[in-house]
Amino acid sequence: MDRQIHRGSILHFPKTTSSPEKNYSYYSDGVLVVEKGKVAHIGEAAEFFKHPHNQQLLNYGGVEQHKGLIIPGMIDSHVHFPQIEMIASFGKQLLDWLNEYTFPTEKQFASEEYAKVQAEFFVNQLMAHGTTTASVFATVHPQSVDAFFNASQAINARMICGKVLMDRFCPEYLRDTPESGYRESKELIEKWHNNGRAMYAITPRFAPTSTPEQLALAGKLANEHPDTFIQTHLSENLGEVEWIKELYPDSPDYLGVYENNGLVRDRALFGHAIHLEEREYDVLSSSGATISFCPSSNLFLGSGLFNYAKAKERGINLSLASDVGAGTSLSLFANQADAYKICQLQHTSLDPFESLYLCTQGAAASMGIDHLVGNLNPGTEADFVELDFMGSPILQQRLLRCKTLKEQLFAISTLSDDRAIERTYVNGKLVYSKEAKVCGHTSTNGLRYLSNGSM
Ligand code: GUN
Ligand code: ZN
Repeated sequence: MDRQIHRGSILHFPKTTSSPEKNYSYYSDGVLVVEKGKVAHIGEAAEFFKHPHNQQLLNYGGVEQHKGLIIPGMIDSHVHFPQIEMIASFGKQLLDWLNEYTFPTEKQFASEEYAKVQAEFFVNQLMAHGTTTASVFATVHPQSVDAFFNASQAINARMICGKVLMDRFCPEYLRDTPESGYRESKELIEKWHNNGRAMYAITPRFAPTSTPEQLALAGKLANEHPDTFIQTHLSENLGEVEWIKELYPDSPDYLGVYENNGLVRDRALFGHAIHLEEREYDVLSSSGATISFCPSSNLFLGSGLFNYAKAKERGINLSLASDVGAGTSLSLFANQADAYKICQLQHTSLDPFESLYLCTQGAAASMGIDHLVGNLNPGTEADFVELDFMGSPILQQRLLRCKTLKEQLFAISTLSDDRAIERTYVNGKLVYSKEAKVCGHTSTNGLRYLSNGSM
């Protein structure tokens, strides 16, 4: 039978909560049983091995023993795969950064071959950072979406992706038209949405780079395919917000532009949402839409301080995101560290259970996929990560002095990145191991990956 037993310390958030620090499940010596790619059982090892049938497994080496902490695979709710190569580009804020670095980079994805190589590299890097699900912007080129889903399906990962819609205020070479954007997106939805573990996101880049006609057609598409995702940017930068007032003078505010086109609903993911009016908080809260808090990106581009406490207080669905290439790390631990600092600057201390929740169960629940991923409840897809508590000498020393799980989690998120990831499993299969030799589809940078779970 296709069954694996993983034994070690296990932490997850089994249900949706506004108090993750009180509602986590932790097994210091736990078992996670995986059958046919799904979680079949989670519980205390002592209880599990009481049964004579299970006890026998111990003698026959049928148990995978883990030294670090097992957590659910993390979810990055907003990231641009074509931008991985331009991460850490110097010195500009959003609108200049887009013109100077982003658009020329994205031009290259007209080439199918280029897109394939970068998509494989990116998916491998997600796994190396413990991220097993992401909501991903491709480029305006439909073939960039094919490249991404081909790469994610090679390891059977649950991923969301969409073709960028953009028909003005960008170089000619990156423009579609309202009609071609609608048609190509529809074809991609038919090809990829719910194809295996792939899911589609209708992806207007942001309101400035779409004409009203294009946003109207994006809304039509969203209405025709109500279970697709929508992903875009909202109120990231003050210059951008002023520009929206010029471009859409009749809209009450930035979010109103999306709202008037039927783009604010469940499964609509808005990156940033820093400079919001009161009305926008209300609409985000009542619509079931989600904010992707992108801390490292917001610091890097000098965009502003996301008001986490206010968004939470208003009951808005929240999640955490890297927003690479404006974000400076794919690691959702590094992004938790930046989230903590952004909250500190506003006199809120973000609890480490809460920041981990934002990239596991919290993100999954916000996005309506927590029956599939984000926790380790029986019946969910077995995507999980083993953390390496000894990832660096300084972290190691700090962790040895921690007295509680909370202190440990906080030290990991503050001090760590991909060094914290020992192994990553997707659908119960090993897809990344720090220790392993290169095999499967090898990476372009000489790191150690597995593409199909075989060692
Ligand atoms: N706004 C529109 N496009 C982008 C992008 O690619 N990155 C970020 N951070 N903001 C955007
Ligand atoms: Zn973005």
